[in-house]
Amino acid sequence: MLDPDVTYLNHGSFGARVTSVFEYQVSIKREFEASPVDFLDRQKDRLDDAKNVVSNFLGADIKGFGFVENATTGIGCVVNSISFQPGDEILSTSHVYNGVRQLLTHKAKAEGCSYREIPVPLPVHNSSELFEIITKSMNNSTKLLVIDHVASASSIVFPVQEIVQYCRGIGVLVLVDGAHAPGMLDLNIDQIDADWYVGNLHKWVCAPLGAGFIWASEENRTTTHPMTISHWYGQGLANEFDWQGTRDISPWLASAAAVKWGNEIGWERIRQHNHTLVTAMQQALVEAWEVELLSPLDGSMLGNMATVRLPDFCPQTMESCSSFQDEMYEKFKIEAPVFEFLGHGSIRVSAQLYSRMTDVNRLITLIKDRSS
Ligand SMILES: Cc1ncc(COP(=O)(O)O)c(C=O)c1O
Repeated sequence: MLDPDVTYLNHGSFGARVTSVFEYQVSIKREFEASPVDFLDRQKDRLDDAKNVVSNFLGADIKGFGFVENATTGIGCVVNSISFQPGDEILSTSHVYNGVRQLLTHKAKAEGCSYREIPVPLPVHNSSELFEIITKSMNNSTKLLVIDHVASASSIVFPVQEIVQYCRGIGVLVLVDGAHAPGMLDLNIDQIDADWYVGNLHKWVCAPLGAGFIWASEENRTTTHPMTISHWYGQGLANEFDWQGTRDISPWLASAAAVKWGNEIGWERIRQHNHTLVTAMQQALVEAWEVELLSPLDGSMLGNMATVRLPDFCPQTMESCSSFQDEMYEKFKIEAPVFEFLGHGSIRVSAQLYSRMTDVNRLITLIKDRSS
C-alpha cells in the first residue's frame, strides 16, 4: 500500500500493509460494527482460529500464547510480572531498543534493583563472539536477561537459542525481544526455550498495526499477566490475554490473514529474497562510501536489515542525524532511519518484497553528492 513515489527503505520501523490483508481487516471491522455484542461475546472461535494460525506459524505452544498490541506492551507484561529484590540485576546489551531501555530503567528504579547493559562493540564477526561477550558478563545478581533476537539499531541477529541454553544452566531468566523476528527469521519459539518471547506481527509479517504477541514457557504461565488485568484474572494465560478490556481485535484476527498471505508466496522464499537483497545492499553501501563493515559481508549476522555507518562528512550526532533523515524525506522522498549509534552516524536499510537495488543506488548517489 506504500506510495510508489517514496523510496521506502524503512520496513523495519512499522512494516507495511498488504492490500488484501488491509481490506480483510476493514471487513472484520464492518462485521463488528454491524453486531458488536455478537461479534465479541459469541464469536470467540474467531480469536481461537487466529491464535492457532499465528502460534503455529511461530512454532509456539498455543497454551503459552497471547496477543498484545505491540512488543513494548508484551515486554511490559513480562517485566511487570516479575518481582525483583534489591540486589537483583536486570541485564541487557548496548544494542537494546531505546523504548525497552526506558522500561527496564523504570522497573529497576521502582523495585530498587539495578539495570545494566553489556557493551557490545561493533563490528561483530560471528555468533560465538557475541555468545562469549554476553555470557561472560553475567554475575550472581543477574535475575533477568532481556536479549534482542534482531537488534533494532545494529540489525544484528543474536544467537538467542545458545544464550538461553546457557542461562538455563545458571538459573537466569531470559526474555527474548523478538520485535523484528517473525517473518524475518525461520522461528521456532518452543525450540528457543526461553522463559518469555515477545514479538511483533506488524513489522515483517505485514499484519495490521496493533498485532504483537507474548509467549511464556510452561513454568511462567500462571504468573505472567497482561498489563491490563480484567475478568479472567487467574484463569490461565490464554484467557487473561484474550480479554484485556473492550478493544478492537481486528489486527489480531487479520494477522492470521497476513500469515496466510505469506504462506501462499512461501515464507522461506520471502525470507531468502529479503536476506539476499539486504546483503547486497550492505555490500553496495559499504563499498560506495568506503566505510567500515559492521558485520560479515556474507550477511551471516543479518536478517532482512543492515546498518551501515555514514561517511565522516555526514551527520554524526543524534540531532543532526534526525534532521538529515527528515531532509532526505522532504527533499528526495527517501525514507530510511538515520541515527547515532555507539558514537557514529549510521543508517539502516530494510529489504522487503517491494525493495530494489535501485532504491539503495539513490541513497548512494545522494550521499556522494553531499561530499562534493
Ligand atoms: C528490538 C525492538 N524491541 C521493541 C520494539 C518496540 O516495538 P513496538 O513499537 O511495536 O512496541 C522495537 C521497535 O522497533 C524494536 O526494534
